[in-house]
Amino acid sequence: MNILTNNNTAPKIYIKTYGCQMNSYDSDRMLELFLSNGYKPQNTYQGANLVILNTCHIREKASEKVYSELGKINKEKQLLSKENKKMVIAVAGCVAQAEGDQIIKRAPYVDVIVGPQSYHNLVGLVQRINQNKTIDKVNLDFIEEEKFDHLPEERVQNNISAFLSIQEGCDKFCTYCVVPYTRGAEFSRPAEKIISEAKTLIDSGVKEITLLGQNVNAYHGTDDKGNSISLGKLIMSLEELSGLERIRYTTSHPNDMHDELYEAHAGCKKLMPYLHLPVQSGSNKILKLMNRKHKIETYLEVIKKLEIARPDIVFSSDFIVGFPGETEQDFNDTLKLVEQVNFAGCYSFKFSSRPGTPAANYENHISEEIKSSRLQELQSLINKKQYDFNKSFLDKEISILFDRKNGDQLIGRSSYLQPVCVPYNAKYFNAICTVKISHTGPHSLNGDVTC
Ligand code: SAH
Ligand code: SF4
Ligand code: F3S
Repeated sequence: MNILTNNNTAPKIYIKTYGCQMNSYDSDRMLELFLSNGYKPQNTYQGANLVILNTCHIREKASEKVYSELGKINKEKQLLSKENKKMVIAVAGCVAQAEGDQIIKRAPYVDVIVGPQSYHNLVGLVQRINQNKTIDKVNLDFIEEEKFDHLPEERVQNNISAFLSIQEGCDKFCTYCVVPYTRGAEFSRPAEKIISEAKTLIDSGVKEITLLGQNVNAYHGTDDKGNSISLGKLIMSLEELSGLERIRYTTSHPNDMHDELYEAHAGCKKLMPYLHLPVQSGSNKILKLMNRKHKIETYLEVIKKLEIARPDIVFSSDFIVGFPGETEQDFNDTLKLVEQVNFAGCYSFKFSSRPGTPAANYENHISEEIKSSRLQELQSLINKKQYDFNKSFLDKEISILFDRKNGDQLIGRSSYLQPVCVPYNAKYFNAICTVKISHTGPHSLNGDVTC
């Protein structure tokens, strides 16, 4: 492919990512595809030959941001065009999947649209655009697994911590959520391919792998003999890989916890004692309206079983406040649940009405004012719990995986994903070290490396 630009330099690519870890994983794969075709990455759309916005549709604000960003990028595209330089604009991800050609109608200067299951075709599409050949501007096919067969296994960036996508899509249809529509039906990658990708990552220096899926504990792949394999079993196989030191998985649904997964928590030392297990609300009435298909009692039982399997485990969750019909009592039940469970930190959001989801048509929508005040109350309780949790680490020695530098600070993550800062020393970068904690703050810890 002739990838050189008009002035014989390598073309420059800029990718902006919105949304969840699945999107980060996809953005990295897209970047790798283009880097292996001669592109150079850059941190701004200014002067870029290719701009990809990898978008998120989960809440209204997330979607709207894309259009304002596109407006700015188009100004740059027009400026470049006056200098006879070409910029290709691609929209990928969940807004692309949900809105498709509406994007082209609203922003006709967008050159191509690819969904989360069809972005592996992007290199060829961009090539055709650059050669002024015609293309289908909107590419939203859902072909299970095909994407993975067209992605390079090698990673271009050498990180100590990596995401590994093992499952995609969701069949749960919670009444507020767009994911089943944007990511399609649930499917699991074969275990063999996951293990092979994990080995490649480990060979490149990765020590921590986070297994990803919209509903990751619903994973049900097949092993090399064609037998069905659960997430618990898959983790047990990954535990055997030497060089790998930390395993995580996200995001889980309480109804998909299974015996082998409890066994993995009990028996796999590499599996971190921290689990993001969204519950969304503390009220059974609201859970029913959300079509979560579990009760608070079920959730608490799952928590109890995990605590028995792994006594040092702590949790995080997602909460939605102001779901249609949520009363003060329902909201108080959420606060009560937060008090009750050993949460080390949680995410909370105001309900956002998404077109095409059942909850958008529910009655008794909650006013913006009430949503905001409930969110504030919930977040201050969550923050207090997080701060108390952090305080319990004062003077303790804990294991930290260092993967970021910020000025004269080296930053890493504890087993519980707390950010931990120490004075910068190059020899600890991309390593796992023991740190003695000397200061605890609401959102991070400080200390010194002891070994
Ligand atoms: N698969 C995961 C995460 C899905 S999206 C799960 O089931 O938990 C991440 C979070 O966004 C959800 O857990 C939920 O708390 C939030 N969310 C999804 N749709 C939303 C909406 N319409 N309004 C507000 N928050 C929403
Ligand atoms: Fe959305 Fe529910 Fe599926 Fe999570 S389980 S992705 S919240 S539909
Ligand atoms: Fe957003 Fe799509 Fe992830 S809607 S949260 S980017 S699955």
